[in-house]
Parts: sequence; structure tokens; C-alpha cells
Amino acid sequence: MTALPRPLVWLLWANPRRRARKLLQFARVEADGGRDLVRAAELTGDPHLRRCFFAHARDEARHAEMFRIRGIELWKTIEGPESPSPATDRIAPGEHGLDDLRVEDEDDRTLLAFIHLSESAAARDFSAYRKVLGHDPRTRAVFDRILRDEEFHMRYSLAQLDRVSAGRRRRHLWMARARRLWKSYLRLATGIANVMAAIILTAQYFILLPPFALLAKRAARREHPGWSAR
Ligand SMILES: [Fe+2]
Ligand SMILES: [Fe+2]
Repeated sequence: MTALPRPLVWLLWANPRRRARKLLQFARVEADGGRDLVRAAELTGDPHLRRCFFAHARDEARHAEMFRIRGIELWKTIEGPESPSPATDRIAPGEHGLDDLRVEDEDDRTLLAFIHLSESAAARDFSAYRKVLGHDPRTRAVFDRILRDEEFHMRYSLAQLDRVSAGRRRRHLWMARARRLWKSYLRLATGIANVMAAIILTAQYFILLPPFALLAKRAARREHPGWSAR
């Protein structure tokens, strides 16, 4: 199950406009993940992993296209503005790609541990989303198809981690979990800091500015109109 309660998941996917926006957002993230995997394939010295990463990258590119096509289809059925506004909410995450990981800084084991956790989270979230999409069978079919791939990615990355980590799989997974947690905390802290900054600036505008405006008005009233010789 996703971390979000089912009624909230339902609410997030009930509105067709929000649904279209989320699908287009997912398309961008899947495409980013695919590019990272191509880079990972170029960097690894393990020929078997290289083939796996290239195949995985192709899957992610296909997912991006499927989400994009369905998102645009859905968007065309909505009356209102011509083009979709950028989706910024992260309340219902899709696949996280490699979570802003710098592929160049990772070795095969840390990368595989990250991929496994990311794919597991995506499979869990997509499974929760498809359950609330009974009213939109076409979008649900997209999730059905992609979910099968994400489950495969989850399994192959764990099998490969087993192969290359020489019995230290648990350690790598725990380290990857801790890093994902830290990144989530940083994202949350940045979000909270942005909200706080907006509140403080708004409060400053309404509390500090009026006295100065009043003083300026009073000073203006004391001034004689026109030019005066001193
Ligand atoms: Fe994907
Ligand atoms: Fe995936």
C-alpha cells in the first residue's frame, strides 16, 4: 500500500485535470529515470549489468511515452486552458527515477540498491493508484501495464544486487534506505521552509508596511502644494 490513505488517493485521482497533470508529471520522471539508466549502462564495467540497464532504460522510455500519450488524451477531454500547467505537487509520487542520484558517483552495488528501493516504491504506489481508477479504465490499463514492468525491475535489481554484493545485500539496502530517508527529509524541509518564507514575507508586508505608508501620508499632508522658495 502507498503511504497515503485510500480516500486521499481516490481524491487525488478523481479530478480529470489533476489526473492529466499527474500523468504528464510521471512521464517526465520516467524519462529522466531512463536517461540515468543509459548513463549507468555506459559507466558500468559489468557486461551483464550493462544489458540489464539498457533494457531497463528502454522500459522507462516506453513508460514515459505511455504516460504522456494518456495524459494528453485526458487533457484534450477537459474544458479550460489550452495547455497544462506544470505539476508541482508531490503528494502522490510516481516512480522517483533514481532520486536525483548522481549516477557517476555510485558503484554498481549502491546503484542497484537504489534502483530496487525506487522500483519497489513505484510498484506499491502504482498498485494503489490503479485500485482507485475504476472510473477511468484507459488510465487504469496504463498503470496495469507499467506495474508489471516495475515489479520486474524490482526483482531483477534485487537479483543483480545479490550477485554483485557478495552476501552484503542487506547492508547495501539499509544504506540506500537511510539515504532515501535523508533526501525525503531534505525535500520536506525545503517545502516547509518555502511555506514559512511566504508566511513571514506576507506578514511583514501587512504589519511593517502600513505604519510607513501612514507616516508618508501624514508627511505629504504637511507639504504645501507647488514650489516654495526657502
Ligand atoms: Fe517506470
Ligand atoms: Fe521502473
